[in-house]
Amino acid sequence: MSRDEDFIIASVRGLLALDSRGNPTVKAVVRTKGGVGVGIAPSGASKSTKEAVELRDGGKAWGGMGVSQALAGFNTSVAPRLIGLDSRQQAFIDSLLIELDGTPNKSRIGGNVTTALSIAVAKAAADTAGMPLYEYLGGPGAKVLPTPLLNVLNGGVHAGNNLAFQEFIIIPAGARTFSDAMRMAVEVYKSLKSYLSEKYGKGATNVGDEGGYAPPMSMVEEALEALSTAVKAAGYELGKDFLLGMDAASSEFYNAEKKVYVVDGKEYDASSLMDLYVQLIDRYSIAYLEDPFHENDLNHFAELTAKVGNRVLVVGDDLYSTNIKYLAQGIKARATNGALVKVNQVGTLSETLDYVRMARSAGIRPVVSHRSGDSEDSFIADLAVAVGAGVIKTGAPARSERLAKYNRLLEIEAELGPAAIYAGAEPFTGLVA
Ligand code: PGA
Ligand code: ZN
Repeated sequence: MSRDEDFIIASVRGLLALDSRGNPTVKAVVRTKGGVGVGIAPSGASKSTKEAVELRDGGKAWGGMGVSQALAGFNTSVAPRLIGLDSRQQAFIDSLLIELDGTPNKSRIGGNVTTALSIAVAKAAADTAGMPLYEYLGGPGAKVLPTPLLNVLNGGVHAGNNLAFQEFIIIPAGARTFSDAMRMAVEVYKSLKSYLSEKYGKGATNVGDEGGYAPPMSMVEEALEALSTAVKAAGYELGKDFLLGMDAASSEFYNAEKKVYVVDGKEYDASSLMDLYVQLIDRYSIAYLEDPFHENDLNHFAELTAKVGNRVLVVGDDLYSTNIKYLAQGIKARATNGALVKVNQVGTLSETLDYVRMARSAGIRPVVSHRSGDSEDSFIADLAVAVGAGVIKTGAPARSERLAKYNRLLEIEAELGPAAIYAGAEPFTGLVA
């Protein structure tokens, strides 16, 4: 049994780590008298303008991406303030970080510092309690394994091809267990590899930032055709065993001056892009659509949700940036029925949990997500189970920074044994517009 004093924070250190793109990032190590927690901040490529700011050195070294100033601030000004506090007081510690920073977007301390630290504090407390992280955060009822959204074909800023949309996703909704879902997904991932290498040559199976293949395609339908062919070739039925999804990440191909989206070499205004989505949804069993419109266009999100929200999870990522301020606007506008959850978009775990709670109470599905620049930190796997999200988005079954999350979920499933519940199709059925 751990005693209260075991939870007292004894040391806090910020260290340099590298993310999956080789960029510097912040690693926090928090030690209590009775345990330890390590958190590593991830980093996005298709970031919104509403996110917590990552502190970067600029200059020549590391291509300007260094974090030495962030680490200096961490170790000299922030760390000493945490010594002696109880690691279980997550909300208090996070509010202290917010207060020490004093800016609306964590630009003084750095969102990369607060994220790593906030995660490390939670892990240290769980470790001290001798509890699995998902149970420490989610209580004894945390037993739902999320349905994985596997981004098996990469485009946008995550790949060196001409696909406008960033992510093409397979969803093993018809599996009976989480491990079964992973087996089915890997089978489709392999069958996609054979299809791409036959049709486009071997170079087409090189992978992008999130482990999905990055074939030399330029047409959205080509990518969806590849996914649906791969599902069938692996012996599965589209619409039953598997659903498909997309993250358009459309702020990246929106031309604000002309107010058009450039897709497949053509210009679309918001309403013709909406028509394209509706066509694709019906043709390819698409049940998940993220950031279909740019990050400030609540109205077109709302129009699409009204049209297809009964059969598609329409999700705001850049739109909300894990921030209750923007989520509240979305709820008012009935913009989406899903909300992406990325701790480093807002910068602390407590603010992330507030956001999940707000989404939930408005009937909006939280979707826990990695970043395209990520690490061996598997925190989001436990977070997804803890909040009972029912859905996790963490890349293809390739590259260890993606597999760290899937492997942790496999571990949690084994640990829960017969108590484990796989979310399966549930997040995609009974959706209301
Ligand atoms: P990012 O991409 O981590 O590069 O922002 C992930 C996403 O858009 O969901
Ligand atoms: Zn996204």
